Amino acid sequence: QRRERNISSHVRNRLPEDAVGLLREAGNLAQELGWDAYAVGGFVRDILLGRPNLDIDLVVEGDGIAFASALVERLGGRIKAHKKFKTAVCILDDGRRVDVATARLEYYQYPAALPTVELSSIKMDLYRRDFTMNALALRLNPGKFGQLVDFFGAERDIKNKQIRVLHSLSFVEDPTRILRAVRFEQRFGFRIGGQTMRLVKNALQLNLFEKLSGSRITHELRLVMDEENPLNVVERMNDLGLLKAIHPLLKLTHERVRVLQELEKVFNWYKLLYLDDQADCWKLYFLGLTMGTKREELSKVADRLNFSRREERELLALRDQIGDALMRLMGWQEGKTPLSRLYSILTPIPLEGVLFLMARSRKESIRRNISQYLARLRYVSIDVSGDDLIEMGIPEGPVFTLILDKILAARVDGNVGSREEQLAMALRLKKQFKSEWMNPV
Ligand code: CTP
Repeated sequence: QRRERNISSHVRNRLPEDAVGLLREAGNLAQELGWDAYAVGGFVRDILLGRPNLDIDLVVEGDGIAFASALVERLGGRIKAHKKFKTAVCILDDGRRVDVATARLEYYQYPAALPTVELSSIKMDLYRRDFTMNALALRLNPGKFGQLVDFFGAERDIKNKQIRVLHSLSFVEDPTRILRAVRFEQRFGFRIGGQTMRLVKNALQLNLFEKLSGSRITHELRLVMDEENPLNVVERMNDLGLLKAIHPLLKLTHERVRVLQELEKVFNWYKLLYLDDQADCWKLYFLGLTMGTKREELSKVADRLNFSRREERELLALRDQIGDALMRLMGWQEGKTPLSRLYSILTPIPLEGVLFLMARSRKESIRRNISQYLARLRYVSIDVSGDDLIEMGIPEGPVFTLILDKILAARVDGNVGSREEQLAMALRLKKQFKSEWMNPV
């Protein structure tokens, strides 16, 4: 019998009370049903690392779906089951989610002639996983609650900050694990172990990435972009030859690194200031990574990554808009060019494009003004409506929009204040433009 370390004090100290309660409840339920339940994967790894993680993954040696049903009956909620995979997601009434999987007993089928190998189904479940640090389980049944099940030396690897696969075919089975390894390496400040690194190089030589679908690569790349410091991951991917294995046009250049660095700063700044107004950072990084490519080249990368026609069109349009805006911003003269000019350049562009422009510009004054645009100018509105103009006797038509735009520009530049001032300005403009609508060409 292996000795298992009990980490229930970590569980109590490092998790919120309601999460501990849920784990205990799951353990009690498993006991009543005559099964064993475990918390597994990244959740357990992060308890050891002392990092907050509330994505609870459970594995039941028994019937995972029946277990999930019983759990939501007890705690309140509903389940979404995947019969084929014998998994279920519990969606609790308070919004928490718990994933439940079944430790698969099929793995037990060994030819009768072989000596019985002592393999529990949880061990088989863990053995299928990517890295030792993710192949830990935590017992939840009462009496064993908090015991760490570590078959593969995960605790030692975590202590030594090593990322190790469990067996030499791991990357052949699933090459996306290579990208996961790099992502975890940078996130935790770990290092891919020696033998595992040889397997990475081997996988690249075997062109295993070629067989990977675009959607799976994209999924992994998006996870990279969601990391706190995506650029570290991207640079390491570049150094290991992973970017060019995905597509030769994705290789990093000095200029791309510079813009990606700025993007990371701009994006973190934006996230901090505007919590509830999120930009799609994935698009930004993709544009940074493909900067300097020709139109057809960008399409090729988009095809490799299996973007939909619509996504591809949007990206190309965004890139054109950015290029166009950069041209228009070239003549910018601090203190001389009115802010309304910046406003008219930026308003048609989606937020991602504005952030990209900010990262891309080398002129400090432009960056400052764009940040002003995001903080204030984009919210400027006017208090004069079309109805007001009709009341003044201005007929609907192009002049209408022209007058409203001019008032808006004056508001942006701070040249007009109250509604009364805006109405007075409308009257002045009415006189100015009268001849135009009286004598249309
Ligand atoms: N897993 C795997 N191979 C993959 C993806 C996932 O073996 N290609 C396993 C790992 O054991 C992982 C678990 O499935 O811990 C859950 O996957 P996921 O939620 O993606 O991983 P986490 O380790 O929780 O990562 P993160 O901290 O980024 O959420």
